[in-house]
Amino acid sequence: MELYIDTANLDEIREAHDLGVLDGVTTNPSLIAKEGIDYGKRLAEICEIVRGPVSAEVIALEYDAMVKEGKMRAEIADNIVVKLPVTVDGLKACKALSDEGIRTNMTLCFQSMQAMMVAKAGAYLVSPFIGRLDDISQDGTELISQIRTIYDNYGFATKILAASIRHPKHMLECALIGADVATVPMNVIKQLMQHPLTDNGLKKFLEDYNKAFA
Ligand code: E4P
Repeated sequence: MELYIDTANLDEIREAHDLGVLDGVTTNPSLIAKEGIDYGKRLAEICEIVRGPVSAEVIALEYDAMVKEGKMRAEIADNIVVKLPVTVDGLKACKALSDEGIRTNMTLCFQSMQAMMVAKAGAYLVSPFIGRLDDISQDGTELISQIRTIYDNYGFATKILAASIRHPKHMLECALIGADVATVPMNVIKQLMQHPLTDNGLKKFLEDYNKAFA
């Protein structure tokens, strides 16, 4: 399973990169707004740190403008993946950019038919948002499971990127279902390595050792 970090913060990206297990980065307009920095400049900085796919979301909502903005973002670096919403215009833009060899990440996916349509249009990634579905009492991981079945039924090559991950259990469920990628905030990446028995065990080992030899 590939691991992306979901942030536009350079310190977090460097920290995750230094762990040695980071495959890519996703950003979105809210994450960029939090940083208060020019989007293009920040994307260039991220692409210098991480050589894997870096998702750059378009702000435009209409087809022509989406394609234009997507092409502009794709020129920043060869690892940029253009992120588009799963709207009708987004679908058309996905097809146009994919036909030109520009990779796309289709975002804000909340139902499996959106995922099937963007796969037909040649999307590189589809981003089902599981945490936001859970927030409204729907089953986010069930959506991942449905998309996995549909993609396997028809041999679609689009990668399932589990997004809006809130905790390690989301990651576990996505890994068991067979999501190709998960994009995760830094606090959850750290939680993936935590267990109280690990901490307690380590403490006891050191106490025993120090008692015997200190
Ligand atoms: C994915 O690309 C999105 O940036 C992200 O996962 C959204 O997560 P949120 O629901 O925690 O904002």
